[in-house]
Amino acid sequence: MNLPMEELAINSRRRFLSTCLGFLGAFLAGGFLYPVFSFLQPPARKKNGEIVKIPKADVPLGGMQRFHIRGIPATVINSQGTYAAFSLVCSHLGCLVTWDGAKDQFICPCHGAKFASDGHVISGPPPKGLEQLKVDVKEDEIWIS
Ligand code: FES
Repeated sequence: MNLPMEELAINSRRRFLSTCLGFLGAFLAGGFLYPVFSFLQPPARKKNGEIVKIPKADVPLGGMQRFHIRGIPATVINSQGTYAAFSLVCSHLGCLVTWDGAKDQFICPCHGAKFASDGHVISGPPPKGLEQLKVDVKEDEIWIS
């Protein structure tokens, strides 16, 4: 009479242990395989692939146009006839910088940092420049990715 109960308990423990090992195996496999597949994936497919298209007419000489890309506020500027696009997020503590077309520079209102029209730091506490986005000029449009 006791034997079936013991067998039942052993089977139950085996099933529990087997289930736990299955979850552990799946967890470890996922933890190992994700970085491997992520590494093997081509860089172009890693990115969101979002492209923002802005008419050139909307960005006059010295002017700018704000937009969002991948959920990040950004801007495209026309500095001396050259288009460039940057994230507006300051590399210091994340405030949003503004473009001063007259001075040809970005200014951060939080701690007074200044960035040149190519995004590098002119003055202030930021450890690095603004994140630059890829710009392709296609006929009458600016494609930013
Ligand atoms: S957050 Fe921009 S300078 Fe500090």
